[in-house]
Amino acid sequence: MPMRTHTCGELRSSDVNSDATVCGWVNTFRDQGKGLVFIDIRDRTGLTQAVFDQEDCEAEVMELARSLRREDVVQIGGRVDPREGGKNPKLDTGEIEIRGTALKVFSRSNNPPILPDDHEASKIAEDVRLRHRYIDLRRPTMQRTLQMRHDLSTLTREYFHNLGFLEVETPLLIKSTPEGARDFIVPSRVYPGKWYALPQSPQIFKQILMIAGCDRYMQICKCLRDEDPRADRQAEFTQIDLEMSFVDRDEIIKIMTGFVRRVFKQLLGLDLGQIPKIPWQLALDKWGADRPDMRFELHLQDISEIVAKTDFKVFQSALAKDRGVVKAIRIPQSADKLSRKIIDQLQETAKLHGAGGLPWTKVTENGFEGGIAKFIEGVTDELSAALEVEPGDTILMGCDEWLKACESLGQVRLHAARHLELIDTTAWKALWVVDFPMFRWSEDKQRWLSEHHPFTAPIPEDIHKLESDPGAVVSAGYDIILNGSEIGGGSIRIHDTEVQNTVFRVLGLEEEDMREKFGFLLDALSQGAPPHGGVAFGLDRLVMLLMSTDNIRDVIAFPKTQNGADLMTEAPGPVDDEQLDELKVQCTEPVATE
Ligand code: AMO
Repeated sequence: MPMRTHTCGELRSSDVNSDATVCGWVNTFRDQGKGLVFIDIRDRTGLTQAVFDQEDCEAEVMELARSLRREDVVQIGGRVDPREGGKNPKLDTGEIEIRGTALKVFSRSNNPPILPDDHEASKIAEDVRLRHRYIDLRRPTMQRTLQMRHDLSTLTREYFHNLGFLEVETPLLIKSTPEGARDFIVPSRVYPGKWYALPQSPQIFKQILMIAGCDRYMQICKCLRDEDPRADRQAEFTQIDLEMSFVDRDEIIKIMTGFVRRVFKQLLGLDLGQIPKIPWQLALDKWGADRPDMRFELHLQDISEIVAKTDFKVFQSALAKDRGVVKAIRIPQSADKLSRKIIDQLQETAKLHGAGGLPWTKVTENGFEGGIAKFIEGVTDELSAALEVEPGDTILMGCDEWLKACESLGQVRLHAARHLELIDTTAWKALWVVDFPMFRWSEDKQRWLSEHHPFTAPIPEDIHKLESDPGAVVSAGYDIILNGSEIGGGSIRIHDTEVQNTVFRVLGLEEEDMREKFGFLLDALSQGAPPHGGVAFGLDRLVMLLMSTDNIRDVIAFPKTQNGADLMTEAPGPVDDEQLDELKVQCTEPVATE
């Protein structure tokens, strides 16, 4: 006999009068006191009501039924009946109940510290839920999330399999190669003093697979980056990683657009429509972000020419900078909603993102009033016409070097839209951002850094500028953004040893360093490398969007906290001195207690 004949979400009125046995957890338990015990039994698929009636049951079974408590694991057998107390339209199994005659307790749940209840979950501190994840994961929402991850992985494999992609596993113990974040490193026992790194992504391996003739590669892989987790970032996360040979940017974008559209169509029944390509420069100019949220307007406008006619020092010193600008956003009908306190918060946001401040003013029937109104008196008409102001509007400004002014005002735009609830949360807005700059100058490090990673190719027309004017080189990189979240990114790669060498030089790598770190890649590139390119999607971020959550920990079965800890297993933990001796590793600090 099988342990169960049906799952807990399966029985329907067509099963009435047949015998059924189900297994699962006691979700709720009610002893009616009149010889009736009601139990809702739950598994991954749903809930079934069972009723034990002393009229039908042996005394022992009845006694066992009365002893049940929430989260005990049981097997219930009996006849399927129409529900006596009326149908429950909220449940798939709401038309029936099992008249229990057999009951077995597989295991008891010892006073559960939390219950797997979606309604209660938000009231329980997240760390308590993470510590008892085996219970938290029983919640229907968590089960649906695991199912969604599974459906996404299955769809991914099928979509790319049909296009001739080959799934290849790449190693976890690799050589440390930079990709922007800090590496997690693992000591080697066999080579004392040497270290493996855990991959930040399979970037170099997938490129080498192209050189190896693999042609089209895919992998759903773990990536590890030792950076502080955030709401949409984990140190350990999952990518859908892809690479293709003999393709150009637009062909890759076409295939990947098809994939993203399929995901949302198949999993949410949603048509994302065509996904436009927006140049990076325009994204910053208009939305103040390289991952613009287009679900609301509030566009940035350049008012440099107009305000240059004032003698307001803040404007003048910004405009005197190299590429200095003054940008503005007009927030319609917001003057009475943006109190002084909120404007102060927006100022903080601007400062946090590099701006010196956030000049502002409001529009009344009598013109501009408040904030910096008196400094723009001479240009009131011009400014009003350019911004098409109406009484009741608020004007916020960003003045600095172009990138800083755009990025800080872009963050203010987001913050203000959230506060004013201007974001249409039912809308879905996807776009590709293209034509990124190849490098970004780091004031801290006093050198150029890659905007994507060092293997991204410049557009062919700009190769000659790599060394003479790195800041002006446009890359063949692209990111895909959905509702302001970067769900994927990639590029056409460098397939020429000379160009790769030049890029490393621009990034400040000495010849010796270059050989030491990337000799194998340079050797591979010199042995017949096809033109190639690819992309990686953040699987967790896709699931966040699919499940409408803004917390990445909600979509990962066993996530780390903001401090990088696994509260359930208590990782990271200490290791034995013996293990350290074997690895020839010594701690210079006493082991931290937390
Ligand atoms: P990139 O670093 O942009 O590119 O990563 C690709 C996508 O992975 C997701 N992602 C993350 N998700 C959760 N937590 C994180 N810490 C995290 N970091 C990144 C994002 C991002 O768009 N090798 C290149 C890809 C390529 O060029 O093909 C890479 O890793 O959704």
